Amino acid sequence: EKGGYETFMEKEIHEQPHAVRDTLLGRTDEDGQLILDDMRISEEELAAVDRIYVVACGTASYAGMTAKYAIEHWTRIPVEVSLAHEFRYCDPIVDERTLVVSISQSGETMDTLMAVKHARELGARTLSICNTHGSTIPRESDAVLYTHAGPEIAVASTKAFVAQITACFVLGLYLAQLRGETYADDAKQVMAELHGVPDKLESLLGTMDRVEEIARFMADSRAVLFLGRHVGYPIAMEGALKLKELAYIHAEGFAAGELKHGPIALIEPGQPVFVVVPGPDTPHELHKKVVSNIQEIRARGARTLVIAEEGDEDVVPFADEVIRVPHTSPLLQPLLTVVPLQVFALHLSTAKGLDVDQPRNLAKSVTVE
Ligand code: M6R
Repeated sequence: EKGGYETFMEKEIHEQPHAVRDTLLGRTDEDGQLILDDMRISEEELAAVDRIYVVACGTASYAGMTAKYAIEHWTRIPVEVSLAHEFRYCDPIVDERTLVVSISQSGETMDTLMAVKHARELGARTLSICNTHGSTIPRESDAVLYTHAGPEIAVASTKAFVAQITACFVLGLYLAQLRGETYADDAKQVMAELHGVPDKLESLLGTMDRVEEIARFMADSRAVLFLGRHVGYPIAMEGALKLKELAYIHAEGFAAGELKHGPIALIEPGQPVFVVVPGPDTPHELHKKVVSNIQEIRARGARTLVIAEEGDEDVVPFADEVIRVPHTSPLLQPLLTVVPLQVFALHLSTAKGLDVDQPRNLAKSVTVE
């Protein structure tokens, strides 16, 4: 049942190319127009949406944070990502032109379900991105966009995460088309690039031996930091969450620009820091800025573990380790950069002799508030 792998998590990490491919399947008609499943919201209603809330917990919330950049860029609709358990208590600004998008692998997370119910009471349109057919959250929502990651057994979410990001991209492109935004013209190109991601994931997964070795050497680490910027920021948070839940190591993800506002004080000789580097073609010189963050922490003795695109030579002088990912356009990068962080947490947990699939104190779906 584990398909020759030691753990479900390892198997599911290797199923990520399929998760992305299957989630994209059947999403465009012969004219290249995007199609969604189970739409009980009219096109007019969707075209009128002027605000989006994403409600989710844990890894699913990081998928939402990642997607916010793309959806806002393509649609120009403001997107706010709210932890589902905070949503009801922040007096959210919601009316019938608000689309509340829930993201949940299980479709049974009580916090997320309660947020969806609250959104409906406030008159919002609700759309569920979910991996489990027939589960509660899709049933309680006006529309559904299923991810096709297949059943996820390991408590730590991996393949559902890349599928959730993929589904959010599909939704963003669809909304852009409906609204006739200029970026709708890019939709075909983005879809074509998305269709190329599974092959890139496949080749990336074939290069993870060094990450496994690094994880083994780091089995007695006390704390690990993760830095990222732009779409790399939620990936840094996701890398930290994976390490906490699987290896019981204190881990924190930061926005790289925030370093100088406090966290840099944590850097002491030998402190391991993962840095997710934006591709060199990311706008606003973000690449250069993150490279100089690496330089700053290295100068203070940090051990820098750098995730960078193939061919990015600027990082080399300041990196103790460079982990390469294939080139993609900036918004799609998270689908690749998350992989080494999943593999790292998996092998560190294994090196510590822990139960990878069933970490302590956790349940696969959290059905209590
Ligand atoms: O089933 P859901 O996607 O609603 O679950 C949400 C979180 O509980 C879940 O992503 C959790 O954070 C994972 N254990 C992370 O690996």
